[in-house]
Amino acid sequence: MTIKNNAVSLILDAGDEKELEEIKLQFLGKSGTLTLAMKEMAKLPAEKRPEIGQLANEVKQIIEEAITNVGAGFHTQKIEKIQKIDVTEPGIKPSLGHLHLVTQAIEEITNIFENIGFTRVRYPEIEYDWYAFGALNFPDNHPARDDWETFFIDQEPDPKKGPILLTPHTSSGQIREMEKQVEEQKKTGNPISIKMLNIAKTYRRQSDVSHVPMFHQFETLVIGENISITHLKGVLDYFVKSYFGPDRKSRIRPYHFQFTEPSFETDVSCGVCNGKGCKLCKEGWLELGGAGMVHPNVLRNCGLDPSIYTGFASGWGVERVLTMKEGIEIDDIRLLYSNKLEFLEQF
Ligand code: PHE
Repeated sequence: MTIKNNAVSLILDAGDEKELEEIKLQFLGKSGTLTLAMKEMAKLPAEKRPEIGQLANEVKQIIEEAITNVGAGFHTQKIEKIQKIDVTEPGIKPSLGHLHLVTQAIEEITNIFENIGFTRVRYPEIEYDWYAFGALNFPDNHPARDDWETFFIDQEPDPKKGPILLTPHTSSGQIREMEKQVEEQKKTGNPISIKMLNIAKTYRRQSDVSHVPMFHQFETLVIGENISITHLKGVLDYFVKSYFGPDRKSRIRPYHFQFTEPSFETDVSCGVCNGKGCKLCKEGWLELGGAGMVHPNVLRNCGLDPSIYTGFASGWGVERVLTMKEGIEIDDIRLLYSNKLEFLEQF
């Protein structure tokens, strides 16, 4: 049958899906050759109709099958084309972000202390009063426990450990660490030796250009036999030179904390005026944070004998050291947590 041969050879020669569609219309469309031929069949004598009708249906089926098969071939070709990747073609550069400034500082601080044998730990940020204040030798009526200083959680206080709060400082980690080591010692019998670095979020009711309600502190605690102020001074100086640069100096000044005796404020020489005194600093020095020798009451509260063990602790602010670093000038500390890309992308 010429219609069939004609159609099949055209279908096999089709160059693409569009041509195939045209051929389909040409034969099977409303006024397609085969459709019209089938209409003509009505004029045939009745006895011839079934035979010719069957033949016409077979032809229609063959054409349809040929179209489907050739169409499927085009589809596979298309996929193969997509899968062929030209490796020499220049790629699309993905836009890469970077770690947040505070995360970068935490990593740097951790490396500095790990290099001299400190172990990084993290203790709860939602804590009992006992760890944040009680065991740290704070009297019951100390103002740090006031509602307008510390965030308290509205929950039934623990009969022994007191109310639950958001840690206002990382010093709570000192108690957790000593408690843990004393428990270990009961099992092993080994003498206590602590070199702890506790970095965590801390919370206070404050918000202005240099304070945020949530900030980070890094706390050191060193406990052993014969630990003295010289060890504290050595670690302070090592940190200052590693983090700020070899030309920077450090100093300690007498101060008061409930949980250290003696207590100090620790300072670093100003990087802008090199210690001469300028607008940025107080007479050449910038304040890092607190430090001191662990108070005997604190040691006792953790089950340590102050006649055997001594130690020092320090607690400094991550955001503070970060903004004191040369080359990082941040007028408003709240920008660090504003999620503004214009700001974060500068670092
Ligand atoms: N926890 C004190 C603060 O937040 C700092 C400090 C830590 C002081 C360790 C002495 C020893 O101000």
